[in-house]
Amino acid sequence: MENSAERRTEWLEWKKLIAYQEETAMRSLAEWFEREPERVDRMQVQSAGLFLDYSKNRIDRDGISRLLALADRAGLPDQIANLMSGEVVNASEGRPALHRALRASSDDRIEVGGVDVVPAVQGVLARMALFCDEVRSGRWTGYSGRRIRHVINLGIGGSDLGPRMACQALRPYADSELEVDFVSNVDGRDIERALVGKLPSETLFIICSKTFTTQETLMNAQAARAWVQEAAQADSAVAQHFVAVSTNAPAVEAFGIRPENMFEFWDWVGGRYSLTSAVGLSLMLAIGPDSFQRFLTGARAMDQHFSSSPLAENMPVVLGLLGVFYRSFYQWPAHCIVPYSQDLGLFPAYLQQLDMESNGKGVDRDGYPLDHDSGPILFGDAGTNVQHAFFQMLHQGTQPVPCDFLSFARTLGGLSEHQDVLTSHCLAQAEALAFGQGSETAGPQGGTFGSANHRFFPGSRPSNVLLARQLSPEVLGALVALYEHKVFVQGVIWGVNSFDQWGVELGKALAGEILKEVRNGQLEPGRHDASTSNLLSRYLRDRNPS
Ligand code: F6P
Repeated sequence: MENSAERRTEWLEWKKLIAYQEETAMRSLAEWFEREPERVDRMQVQSAGLFLDYSKNRIDRDGISRLLALADRAGLPDQIANLMSGEVVNASEGRPALHRALRASSDDRIEVGGVDVVPAVQGVLARMALFCDEVRSGRWTGYSGRRIRHVINLGIGGSDLGPRMACQALRPYADSELEVDFVSNVDGRDIERALVGKLPSETLFIICSKTFTTQETLMNAQAARAWVQEAAQADSAVAQHFVAVSTNAPAVEAFGIRPENMFEFWDWVGGRYSLTSAVGLSLMLAIGPDSFQRFLTGARAMDQHFSSSPLAENMPVVLGLLGVFYRSFYQWPAHCIVPYSQDLGLFPAYLQQLDMESNGKGVDRDGYPLDHDSGPILFGDAGTNVQHAFFQMLHQGTQPVPCDFLSFARTLGGLSEHQDVLTSHCLAQAEALAFGQGSETAGPQGGTFGSANHRFFPGSRPSNVLLARQLSPEVLGALVALYEHKVFVQGVIWGVNSFDQWGVELGKALAGEILKEVRNGQLEPGRHDASTSNLLSRYLRDRNPS
């Protein structure tokens, strides 16, 4: 059994990976492929509609088995079982992280504190489905009797990024009669933009906030409520135009939302792990209850794969361990996600919170400082756009950035020739990164001394390629669960709690203090450092038109 206070860098399994990295770091990916002609057949996993090729990684059978030994030493099999069975894996907040219960089948039994939570989950899903049918059919009307044509989700972080990403990803499955929009930022321009061209009488707001205390969301909710009330000239309109997704029933009711219009979730669902909870209400409104169920089915298939497959054939485990290899043993700081799908363009932004808020930690689960690095900087966007933005750096920059490429065999639109071009680019990028190009084969030479070097592609830059037939609700569900579990695997190896986020608190508290001074129109002497005081005075001076 692992001891969190024990320094991971002193584990024999850790040292064996340091030695392996030192022995193999100079080997090119081309050489890896020459040495192991069968690696493509071996380095692949298929599950839940996804096919993963991880052969373009700087590792072989021996390296993988050293990573698996590290996973065993970190207690990964037990930790997976603990996560899935509802043990308290979020120790600093004293609760489980049971997102898998949100997509469990109705005959599963998952207990929290001795109570089976599956019936409650199914109950909320059933209420969501009824509500969505009402709205989508036009039976749910606004204060003037008109049907709802616009839905605006007000939320931020986990209460925004997941449903926003999924609504965009699954737009081919959406009801064209209903427009679903998202407002997250406390920059007033965000909600102002969203309200333009919409009638209050046809607009339904979902206030999506686990805590129902988040400043950005509540300010936007108040602005939306004022907009509706002004048009309706009646406070009662709030009940017809606002529903909530939250764990905080008293605050929801105090806002004016009827209890029957609150869709609950539970404190054992982390914000960034909440897309398959009622936080997905906007998605269910967009694509309908049946497609939402298909989305949950995909996530459940990946959950089952994660909890039952041997570590070596387990997609989230394999992806997680490869990421650990580059972060901890090559000390590469970043990881890039590129979906070759415009519909999935927000997937990297969603994963950014999932990954960086989960594993961007400096202490272990017991609060001891880490003696190694933790989660990487995660970034990305849709291909091929990114090829004309930051890919130069990926190919010729001084440090490799491991990539995950996501690609689909079929488009959901009609332009299959576009899809052929798109997929060619995806495969070409992975090939170019892996195998590079010597300057001697790089086309016309000439120019000044060293100009051939400009055409040199070092190669040996690792990537994973995930293929699926097409971007269906099931495939999206599987992708969401895949990365949720990948992040968990890495958290276990690094010994961090992937389910708390204390690092967001200080800024919130300081903003509250600064806001008091802003509202008073003057600085409190000695409260801030010189830089903050200077910036604040300039703001107070410049904020009003002179
Ligand atoms: O950014 C901090 C955070 O607590 C996230 O973890 C969470 O997803 C987000 O704020 C929104 O919180 P809530 O759903 O409670 O409004």
